[in-house]
Amino acid sequence: MAAACVLFLGLALLGAASAQSRCRMGPTASHTACGLPDELANFQGYHECADAVKVGKPAAVKDIQQMVTAFPRVKASGVGHSWWTEQFCAGDDANSLNIVTTELKSTLDFMAAPVNPKRWADAGGVDPDFPIQVNEDARTVTVAAGITQRRVLDYLADYKYWKEPAGWTLPAFSWYIDQTIAGAVSTASHGSSMRFSSLSSQLRGLKLVLANGTMLELTPNSNRHLFMAAGASVGRLGVIVEVTMAITPQKAVRRTTREMTYRDFAEQIKRVQDAYAFSRARGDRNGMRAALSQLDETHAFLALPSATVLRTDFAYLEKEPAFVLLNAFPADGEPGVQAMSGPQSSVGPQAEKPAVRGTDRILSGARTWSTFYLSQVRPKLSNGTFESRRAFLSMSDSETAATATFLPYEQFEAAVPLERAGSCLMEVGNEIFGRDRLWEGFRTPVLTRFTTEEDFYLSPATDGPMMWLNMEDYLSRSSGVPNDKFHRTMALLRQRCGARLHWGKAGWPEHAKCFDGGKEYPNTWGHFGCAVQELDPQAKFASEWDGWVWAATRDGASVPFASCCGPAGFSPACRLAPRTKC
Ligand SMILES: Cc1cc2nc3c(=O)[nH]c(=O)nc-3n(C[C@H](O)[C@H](O)[C@H](O)COP(=O)(O)OP(=O)(O)OC[C@H]3O[C@@H](n4cnc5c(N)ncnc54)[C@H](O)[C@@H]3O)c2cc1C
Ligand SMILES: *[C@@H]1O[C@H](CO)[C@@H](O)[C@H](O)[C@H]1NC(C)=O
Ligand SMILES: *[C@@H]1O[C@H](CO)[C@@H](O)[C@H](O)[C@H]1NC(C)=O
Repeated sequence: MAAACVLFLGLALLGAASAQSRCRMGPTASHTACGLPDELANFQGYHECADAVKVGKPAAVKDIQQMVTAFPRVKASGVGHSWWTEQFCAGDDANSLNIVTTELKSTLDFMAAPVNPKRWADAGGVDPDFPIQVNEDARTVTVAAGITQRRVLDYLADYKYWKEPAGWTLPAFSWYIDQTIAGAVSTASHGSSMRFSSLSSQLRGLKLVLANGTMLELTPNSNRHLFMAAGASVGRLGVIVEVTMAITPQKAVRRTTREMTYRDFAEQIKRVQDAYAFSRARGDRNGMRAALSQLDETHAFLALPSATVLRTDFAYLEKEPAFVLLNAFPADGEPGVQAMSGPQSSVGPQAEKPAVRGTDRILSGARTWSTFYLSQVRPKLSNGTFESRRAFLSMSDSETAATATFLPYEQFEAAVPLERAGSCLMEVGNEIFGRDRLWEGFRTPVLTRFTTEEDFYLSPATDGPMMWLNMEDYLSRSSGVPNDKFHRTMALLRQRCGARLHWGKAGWPEHAKCFDGGKEYPNTWGHFGCAVQELDPQAKFASEWDGWVWAATRDGASVPFASCCGPAGFSPACRLAPRTKC
């Protein structure tokens, strides 16, 4: 097919879909493109839960507490953007309940009709029931779980009528911002920051409904152990109903994009890797910071078929290497949708919804599609100076709607330790561009980002800084057969680069089969297990995933796991035992 024709097809489809913008919630809007709460499935209608699983639509926090108590198997849901059935579903039968956080009345009202903060300035005060509460003195925002990240960012940007005329923003946010804020925090969703790391690291407190229906409030100071467990807990510890996040004033940010070859980019990353390893071996913390600062707020789109890379860096007046943190969460002290398809506060069955359909047209023309997708992002990366909210890349809401309905795809993300990142790009690159032409399994560019170390037990960056490779499989849903070349690339990243998987993305059933937490997270899996032991010993929130298992030994002999747990987590006197059953 001629290039122009494919481009036309792509643009026409994108245009048609964005006109509907179906993910935007409103009293009369259909949510079919959003996935929830009509059916428990992802935003394109795949990854569904069993039909018998019930949908909980709490109107208020107390309803969440009642629902959690009433059902033996429970899982919190945001808008279902996490691509992973087994983790997403509470269970597979009528005793299983997915509780949808976007259903709270105050959340629904705000999502249906956003409020500009000017209204509170005019009224002389903020409504205490409003689901977003800014504290300019503490530099925090407290948000109800089901509000989307986009709405938080837009509200903060408009919050300019009191102490900060430029408005506020989250210090670092993800590219995709239409997931719920608690969903993003729960899976350590991230943008690209060597200072603020993932959204979990921007967390200053949270409220969690536990298995027995009680509310637990956590801050880093109230209970650091449970905070580090809950701050990236994938729904395994309970239902988060509120998060308090750090905020920072908006400022002018200069964005610079350079186009280069894959090889040049890999060499740049390898030089940072070497500089970081060199300084680390000498215990030179300033040297480590200087190395990481070369990738602070850097992201890159790697178009594999053409081996072209668009690398974008961000700079502002006061930015300097000393700003980079070797750990985003300093050890001491406090750092700084609409449902409408049922009655409010109800538990009910799911509705059916059609999944996005595939097309043969995506199956050929890897180079053409790659050129098309690159042409879609290039204008958004233009050089210039913008306020933070606009300078850092995020998808527009029409783009979200378009991607949700355009073509079915699966999104994977591999986190590679920075100490191996450059070597990994070179080694895997040799296979991608080698005889087997693995690039043929790709259509969209690979989005590459970087985050610094953080202490959350399940954060992939818990042991050190990470390079993230966000990769999309646009072929298997349309062709009906597995995308082998894509999966071989994923397998290489797992096997040769020691990649961990994103907790809110695809790939776990294929690439983390028989997941052994003690092997994948040797330093923190035990701590998380102890938090589970303390907060959910009956495994109410265990989901359909078989990886939530812990076993321990002491002096070489098996002991009950609970006997290894104390107030600070897993005892150093115990060891994690390898997973046996699988
Ligand atoms: C198109 C697209 C682009 C994406 N881009 C990025 C990106 O740029 N960066 C990135 O890091 N990630 C990205 N993601 C991943 C996304 O941020 C995560 O999957 C996120 O968890 C989805 O949030 P959700 O509200 O849809 O949660 P769901 O999919 O509904 O839930 C995800 C997990 O979080 C748990 N959870 C959700 N809400 C709560 C709660 N209130 N309490 C406790 N547990 C909860 C659920 O139990 C589940 O295990 C992207 C996803 C999509 C679909
Ligand atoms: C953006 O700026 C960089 C650095 O000055 C330059 O190399 C690049 O060509 C510029 N890009 C565009 C599209 O002008
Ligand atoms: C609920 O569970 C928590 C965590 O296990 C426990 O600390 C608390 O005492 C329990 N509350 C009630 C009322 O049972």
